[in-house]
Amino acid sequence: MPRFLSSRPDSRLIPLPWGTPLAEWPTEHLVALPRGLSRHVVRFIRVGESVYAAKEIVEPVALHEYRLLQDLTRLGTPAVEPLAVVTQRHRADGRELESVLITRHLQFSLPYRSLFSVGVRQDTVSRLVDAMVVLLARLHLIGFMWRDVSLSNILFRRDAGEFAAYLVDAETGEMHADLTTGQREHDLSIAVTNLFGDFSDLQAGGMLDPSLDPLQLVETIETRYRELWSELTGVEEFPERELDRIEGRVRRLNALGFDVAELDISTAGKTIRIQPKVVDAGHHSRRLMRLTGLDTEENQARRLLNDLDTYRARNNLQGTDEAVAAHQWLATSFEPVVNAIPKDLMGKRDPAQIYHEVLDYRWYQSQRERREVPLTEAVHGYIDDVLTSLPDEELSADSVTLIQPDDAQALVNPYDPSQGYVDDEETPYDPWEDDAGENATEPAVLDLDTLRRLRGPKN
Ligand SMILES: Nc1ncnc2c1ncn2[C@@H]1O[C@H](COP(=O)(O)OP(=O)(O)OP(=O)(O)O)[C@@H](O)[C@H]1O
Ligand SMILES: [Mg+2]
Repeated sequence: MPRFLSSRPDSRLIPLPWGTPLAEWPTEHLVALPRGLSRHVVRFIRVGESVYAAKEIVEPVALHEYRLLQDLTRLGTPAVEPLAVVTQRHRADGRELESVLITRHLQFSLPYRSLFSVGVRQDTVSRLVDAMVVLLARLHLIGFMWRDVSLSNILFRRDAGEFAAYLVDAETGEMHADLTTGQREHDLSIAVTNLFGDFSDLQAGGMLDPSLDPLQLVETIETRYRELWSELTGVEEFPERELDRIEGRVRRLNALGFDVAELDISTAGKTIRIQPKVVDAGHHSRRLMRLTGLDTEENQARRLLNDLDTYRARNNLQGTDEAVAAHQWLATSFEPVVNAIPKDLMGKRDPAQIYHEVLDYRWYQSQRERREVPLTEAVHGYIDDVLTSLPDEELSADSVTLIQPDDAQALVNPYDPSQGYVDDEETPYDPWEDDAGENATEPAVLDLDTLRRLRGPKN
């Protein structure tokens, strides 16, 4: 009998066919959703209304990853949420099967291949790069050394006009109290090598905007990471008369989306030295959550809070308690917009993203028509002109329409996108799967050098 290790058990998982290798599961339990390349067998499974990702891996690695993902979730770092590990699986004839790690499918997440397959503009790539840099810095701040940054190991979610990046694969990760500069630089260099490979593969597949160069992209990642890290943790020294620089630093960090929980301030003669010691991401999303209970991404929160400020000014509510005004805004602005969206279109964007897009839509319409368009009117225009034609991004059990990024091409196996398309001469290059073919009997080992070696000739 299989064993389930879970801090939040879902009993509907128990009757699933654990005695069958994941690759052979009957499709009635599966959902075909886009995903990144993977070395292991990964399937999306459906129980009732819930969709989970299941990955077949050896037990110690499954347990290691489960615990790391739990730590990341507990610390509020963007990562997929672990649900369970299923161990002691056996086939009917008694042969052992590998364990399965189950994580909750990250709603509204976009694997990079879905993003790139429809063609992304240069500035979108720049936003994806920013999101990756923030994720890496956030992981490093809490002492997490990833050791396997790659496009396939990151999921993206829309975040107002930006993106938020989530970690999806923690197998090779390590949690430390603190990371040394050497450890961080090592992680960054792995990221650069892997991402260079990923961008080169996209380029070779004609999926990278011709104005973008893989080398330049990874150089940007290095530079932006270092700049962000130094803003988040760097020492600043200034003369005593420039005391307002303390507040300036805190404001800059807030603007980047971080709260300063601990700022170290010391004086030596007439010189002041400051260094943030503890910074927490989510400055705006925490504030919005406190005021309205809405759980959003950081830039969505920033946008909604700005709208709340405008609302207060417009309705002469500056003197009113902020929480009371926020409640009123929620009831008279946010909720009417979200409630106006027909149910069958709600799978296209999450509510905060819809509200952000309606605000944008209204702004352009107001400019065009030289009048102030009310939100209730704009939302209908947005539904007709924008929302209706967008693909579903919720990717829930009921919305499997996005399984084929390009309608003209059918996947060989919709439950396993790494097998490529029916009319492809070649399946997409997946070094791990190539490797598995050659050394099918070898157990899966965590070996990044192999990945880089295999990837090398492709670059
Ligand atoms: N919880 C989840 N929500 C959404 N997508 C997921 C989830 N878990 C996995 N995926 C998708 O499945 C893909 C493969 O998962 P994962 O990276 O964990 O597999 P892997 O075999 O360990 O990869 P690697 O080859 O990097 O070791 C991811 O790129 C992602 O697109
Ligand atoms: Mg992976």
